[in-house]
Amino acid sequence: MTILVTGGAGFIGGNFVLDWLAQSDEKIVNLDSLTYAGNLDTLRSLDGDARHVFVHGDIADGALVASLLAEHQPRAVLNFAAESHVDRSIHGPAAFIQTNIVGTFNLLEAVRAYWNGLDAAAQAAFRLLHVSTDEVYGSLDAEAPAFTEQHRYEPNSPYSASKAASDHLVRAYHHTYGLPVLTTNCSNNYGPYHFPEKLIPLVIHNALAGKALPIYGDGQQIRDWLYVKDHCSAIRRVLDAGRLGETYNVGGWNEKANLDVVHTLCAILDELQPRADAQSYRTQITFVKDRPGHDKRYAIDAGKLERELGWKPAETFETGIRKTVQWYLDHQGWVQNVTSGNYRNWVEQQYA
Ligand code: NAD
Ligand code: TYD
Repeated sequence: MTILVTGGAGFIGGNFVLDWLAQSDEKIVNLDSLTYAGNLDTLRSLDGDARHVFVHGDIADGALVASLLAEHQPRAVLNFAAESHVDRSIHGPAAFIQTNIVGTFNLLEAVRAYWNGLDAAAQAAFRLLHVSTDEVYGSLDAEAPAFTEQHRYEPNSPYSASKAASDHLVRAYHHTYGLPVLTTNCSNNYGPYHFPEKLIPLVIHNALAGKALPIYGDGQQIRDWLYVKDHCSAIRRVLDAGRLGETYNVGGWNEKANLDVVHTLCAILDELQPRADAQSYRTQITFVKDRPGHDKRYAIDAGKLERELGWKPAETFETGIRKTVQWYLDHQGWVQNVTSGNYRNWVEQQYA
């Protein structure tokens, strides 16, 4: 059997592909257009592994997706592909509309046509799992209860609005056409292979490089942090046992203010890789101009996933963040490749 994963050269998709093939021999077809966030270096350990078929292409390319579905006959499609960085969506929203909305729409159309052509047993077994974000729910006040799946959609950034639109399309394809879909809305992921534009990998990278650790505004914005491997296990669980048409919130039960996250990172780095001058990495913290429209707080209530499917995160923030810092210290080559842009040169040579 085979699954089709989109965006499997990115942070979460890459971790998902590696985890999947560490636990199963079921083949993965990995469709990724290799934007700046796509990095085949993450998947280097799979070179020559026949269980992993990488395809360089766009989810918006309906003809390509149709031909992959016809050729590989997957039992499931998991959609990780997206433009994912809020700050980039503020500077250039067009790419977010194109991939997150038009791309998801074209993917849905190709999957619908494929699913319609399956026999009854294959139709019943098929799943489309769409990976989304808690940011579709908007921002919470300090004392408000965490987001449940019933929370109304109130996206505030071009990124979250484009993800909200994609969620609505997925939902509509279930209600209108009966497509067997599942949606997951997760909180902020962290862990290995995270592109150093997001808070945690950026702070680790900048700290070690002796650069400023930029905190937007007062650093009191709150995020829920989910270790990426816990997210991968939640997705596998939802794929196996999720109820059709349902959405499941995935979170780590780890609400932290940004400044506290950065203090924790500095403390672990002070211990594991002290600065030559014996000063704390905290001295590199710099408060910078706030992000426009910065959401104050996200918090996920993952109770439905726990009650219905028995999923719980394995990591606390304390265990997950220590593993993450250690991973970055042990994989400085991967980080150098990303920050120097070398991974892009490889992509250019490969796909010239
Ligand atoms: P990422 O930016 O690291 O990776 C996205 C991947 O998708 C890249 O490999 C990129 O090349 C690929 N891609 C982009 N546009 C494409 C297109 N048109 N066709 C094919 N491939 C394309 O993102 P991520 O952090 O791995 O996020 C994966 C999914 O999880 C996204 O849908 C994102 O919205 C969601 N999500 C992420 C987080 C997080 O904390 N990272 C939190 C909640 C939800
Ligand atoms: P980010 O990792 O971009 O994820 P998201 O915006 O999807 O939550 O940012 C996490 C939080 O950290 C967010 O509140 C913005 C803040 N932040 C900083 O304070 N400094 C930074 O340099 C970055 C990238 C983010």
